[in-house]
Amino acid sequence: MPEATITVEHLVKKYGDLTAVDDISFEVQSGEIFAFLGPNGAGKTTTVEILECLRPPTSGEVRVLGQSVTDRKGVEQIKKRVGILPQEFAALDRLTVEENLKLFAAMYDKSASVSQLIDMFGLRDKTKVRFTNLSGGLKQRVGIAASLVNNPDLVFLDEPTTGLDPEIRRATWQIINDLRKRGKTIFLTTHYMDEAQELANRIAIIVKGKIATIGTPEELIAKFGGEKLIVFKNGGDSLFGTLHRFFDNVSNVNGDVTIPYTDVRDLQVALSAMTERGIRAEMEIKTPRLDDVFLKLAGFRITEGGEAR
Ligand SMILES: Nc1ncnc2c1ncn2[C@@H]1O[C@H](COP(=O)(O)OP(=O)(O)OP(=O)(O)O)[C@@H](O)[C@H]1O
Ligand SMILES: [Mg+2]
Repeated sequence: MPEATITVEHLVKKYGDLTAVDDISFEVQSGEIFAFLGPNGAGKTTTVEILECLRPPTSGEVRVLGQSVTDRKGVEQIKKRVGILPQEFAALDRLTVEENLKLFAAMYDKSASVSQLIDMFGLRDKTKVRFTNLSGGLKQRVGIAASLVNNPDLVFLDEPTTGLDPEIRRATWQIINDLRKRGKTIFLTTHYMDEAQELANRIAIIVKGKIATIGTPEELIAKFGGEKLIVFKNGGDSLFGTLHRFFDNVSNVNGDVTIPYTDVRDLQVALSAMTERGIRAEMEIKTPRLDDVFLKLAGFRITEGGEAR
């Protein structure tokens, strides 16, 4: 089997007394979008910056594209072949989009065509606009374009859509998906559940410097998401009493009556009991989502801003 694109074994990073990354191990395979999902301060940026050879590890083994991040020659090789969108992407405010991209391209011996990048990212009518005058979404788009100037095999995107409005976030997701289709391996950090669910082939959930679990979204949901539920809105005590005769596991939370959904017969039994007794209630089937996985593993949810709640 060929070597994984990224191999991390027992990585630890300490800042003084604080252990920001606490003995984590994982692999990223070629061609996948791998998401590091966790709240603010979980150790996401610290980990990516070690993978990008921008910070030394305290201990552990890290190999990227077949090279060690602590070997000087290896670092040179890695830097040529990776693209980086840092968490706080900044370009030169007074230079135009095109001038900025040309400046980034000039840092490499071999670079992609700036003109092609401009077309690929729909920036043609913005080429002569100064960076400072772009909207947040366009700045981020220039940032992703800039991360591709050296035609990298592996791209690190550190919170690429934080602070963007929903429509622009969707457009950015499209760009990230297109990168994967063109064969890039992508390491994405995010605190957005929907982003990880939408984009990632595999997700590592990181909490307080530790990896709580790793898997495909489907695997994580199947393993930690809990059961599917049938919920009868405002079913009340009478529905609760009725269903209790047919099901062991009925709950009544603020009037919403819930039973586990294992197969369609559960639904038939519940509905015919209700019809017989003339009980009416609105119904929905609740399927577990990544949020539920996260809550189960971490014991809290993440707010829009990335805070633990
Ligand atoms: N250079 C540094 N010196 C000291 N402590 C640091 C440094 N960089 C990060 N930390 C601390 O390490 C921990 C992990 O930070 P890190 O930036 O890796 O988290 P993160 O998951 O990227 O968070 P966010 O979602 O806010 O970007 C935090 O407690 C942070 O305060
Ligand atoms: Mg960060």
